Amino acid sequence: MVRPRKVRRLRLATLAILSRKKSLYSTRRLLEAAKARGFRTRVIDVLRCNLVLESGNPRLFHKGKEVRGLAVALPRIGASVTTVGLQVVRQLEALGVPMLNGASAIARSRDKLTALQQLAASGVKIPRTVLARGGGDVKELVAQVGGLPAILKLIQGTQGVGVMIAHSEAEVESILSTLWDLGQEILLQEYVSESGGRDVRALVVGERVVGAMRREARKGEFRSNLHRGGFAAAAELPREYEEAALRAARVLGLSVAGVDLLESSSGPKVMELNSSPGFEGLEKATGLDIAGAIIEEAARLAEGAKRAMAL
Ligand SMILES: Nc1ncnc2c1ncn2[C@@H]1O[C@H](COP(=O)(O)OP(=O)(O)O)[C@@H](O)[C@H]1O
Ligand SMILES: [Mg+2]
Repeated sequence: MVRPRKVRRLRLATLAILSRKKSLYSTRRLLEAAKARGFRTRVIDVLRCNLVLESGNPRLFHKGKEVRGLAVALPRIGASVTTVGLQVVRQLEALGVPMLNGASAIARSRDKLTALQQLAASGVKIPRTVLARGGGDVKELVAQVGGLPAILKLIQGTQGVGVMIAHSEAEVESILSTLWDLGQEILLQEYVSESGGRDVRALVVGERVVGAMRREARKGEFRSNLHRGGFAAAAELPREYEEAALRAARVLGLSVAGVDLLESSSGPKVMELNSSPGFEGLEKATGLDIAGAIIEEAARLAEGAKRAMAL
């Protein structure tokens, strides 16, 4: 019997998702959306990869098998595996695989100081921030971020972990000295009080905000992360907010970004960009097909790369 399935398969482009588990909501949704749009799919666990380095001949092995012929790849790198994840993304870049978020953009977004420096330099509004490294009067540091209460943040944190609020100079001082003793770098930041435990998450894909929600912290909490028990509701963003999110993503070079913004009395202030944003909360709050929008961007990227190769 002739098996046309095999012939068809050979023609399908392969889309890889770099993810620890197929069962994670966002990974699962991306796989579904990719299959629905005619991609072959595979999931690559960055912790199961061997990288072979040789002049002019990079190779990548996943679970002992060589990875070849990917049309496009989507890195979904968790914060706990950033270093290893970036090594694999760079190897795929060396192999010429188009990446929906490249390694340098991911690295920039993972470091809150680097990201804020670049955003500020490009004129994107951010909450006033000080990198405190010891020395100087705490009173002065606090004054530089507009007084108390003040926010303190670890440079590499996510899901609200490592974000604190201090209501007195003594509190600022004790948090700073504890973290310095632990060898941690810390940012002191203006508390945007008028946002009142709320923030906006805008999901940028390519040149568009494909969905947005307003998140509200649960009672007694100032962090609105859904992982901290925050609530989400779909939001129509004013043009100014969309523009700030798009500009921020462009500055960091991210094609897919979850941009967190505070609603300050003087307009949007960008807090951070997430380069592998989870979108379960956003799909549930808005009913939008976020996975589909991401896969369509991946398809455009793959198509563009194919055309460039043909030239
Ligand atoms: N400067 C600030 N002013 C007011 N609220 C803030 C500020 N910075 C952070 N928050 C609150 O804390 C949450 C987590 O901060 P964020 O910088 O996004 O870190 P994470 O990477 O942990 O999500 C934000 O979603 C927001 O609700
Ligand atoms: Mg955040």
